[in-house]
Amino acid sequence: MLNFSLSMPTAIRFGKGEVNQVGEIVAEYAKKVLLVTGRSSTKKTGSLNKVTSSLDKAGVAYVLFDRIEPNPRATTIDEAGRIAKEENCELILALGGGSAMDAAKAIATVALSGRPIHEYIRGNKTGKWKELLPIKEALPIITVPTLAATGSEANSGAVITNWETKEKSGIGGPALFPKVAILDPELTYTVPANYTADGAADMFTHLYEGYMTGDENANVQDEITEGLMRNAIIYAPKAVANPENYDARAHLLWTSTLALIGLANAGRGGTFPVHAIEHTLSAHYDISHGRGLAILTPAYFELVVKQDRPHRLARLGRNVFRIQEDNDDKAANETIKALIHWYKEIGSYGTLSELGIKREDLRMMAEETVRVSGVDGYLNATRKLSADDILKIYEACFE
Ligand code: NZQ
Ligand code: ZN
Repeated sequence: MLNFSLSMPTAIRFGKGEVNQVGEIVAEYAKKVLLVTGRSSTKKTGSLNKVTSSLDKAGVAYVLFDRIEPNPRATTIDEAGRIAKEENCELILALGGGSAMDAAKAIATVALSGRPIHEYIRGNKTGKWKELLPIKEALPIITVPTLAATGSEANSGAVITNWETKEKSGIGGPALFPKVAILDPELTYTVPANYTADGAADMFTHLYEGYMTGDENANVQDEITEGLMRNAIIYAPKAVANPENYDARAHLLWTSTLALIGLANAGRGGTFPVHAIEHTLSAHYDISHGRGLAILTPAYFELVVKQDRPHRLARLGRNVFRIQEDNDDKAANETIKALIHWYKEIGSYGTLSELGIKREDLRMMAEETVRVSGVDGYLNATRKLSADDILKIYEACFE
């Protein structure tokens, strides 16, 4: 096991009806907040109403910013940051999926520093991020997730897209840990089947990335990972089949939070290559992050992990999918088949061409992945992946 330091400072409030406590909780930190949401779901589902009623009851004033798009954009964040500053908001309250929560973290940064968020995006051509990351100062943040997927509710990362330059990358730092994450599984009842499935694919990917690329002598972390993977696999089909199954929604939401809270990768390390390969797709084509991951994963397992660490795929298959096969190479093949079966069962399976991605863009996007997310011209995975290696993965997922 590697040496590590771990901080999980976000307080968690979990359970049915917890959303109604948001006003009281926020009042401990601020008298006036910027309430950040996506463009429509929180109004349609009534979750916005629940939050604003609770804020009113607790005497917390709020300014609503309801224009965050999926794959949140730098220009929108800069505008919201300006508003938060002008309105003297003391805290950023996020209600929504990963996009609203990531945006809230970026807005909390911009509102304090006055700098455009693009300067913080890793891999941007100005190179300013090298001085600005990790982020040490931001307004306090509280999160109320409405979708189980990213784990953004209790971690210190955010992913932002500069739509003009098509650079999508992470920002992060200790100041971005939310003070409190209010997890009410009933808020996720209205998530449609496609986003429920894509969210499950996302949490599964958060779990396997470090498991495949990290140190192999970290059994505590590996078993935590395998347990969380099993929960994603068991409960995603239940939530897709019955959106108001409280247990399924509760297990998915808690799995998504734990999958990316730092716990599983502390002492194991590892990298997130499939995330980097996907982020280029959503930066150029605005696709669902989880769907992109589900499409890329079988090809990454086949072309990269199976060659370099077949025994890790075999272990995943045996411990997560209960595959009974002693030979590692055969078990690795069965793992990939079992995973594809699960993606198909929940409805998060497909090809890049089905998402409207053009074949002629694949090489450019492979090169962009290495530029924006790589180190010295390569992406670190189970080995160093070149743009040519990434192109092969894209091509294998094309049709
Ligand atoms: O935008 P609105 O109108 O709110 O609708 C959203 C959006 O259309 C809708 N939705 C959310 N909750 C709902 C709901 N619809 C009905 N009922 C509800 N309760 O779902 C759609 C997708 O929402 P979005 O927030 O974009 O999805 P997700 O949570 O998957 O977040 C994706 C973003 O997070 C980043 C991704 O790259 C992407 O930009 N990530 C953030 C991470 C982090 N901070 O740790 C890690 C991840 O790996 C990921 O990269
Ligand atoms: Zn992800």
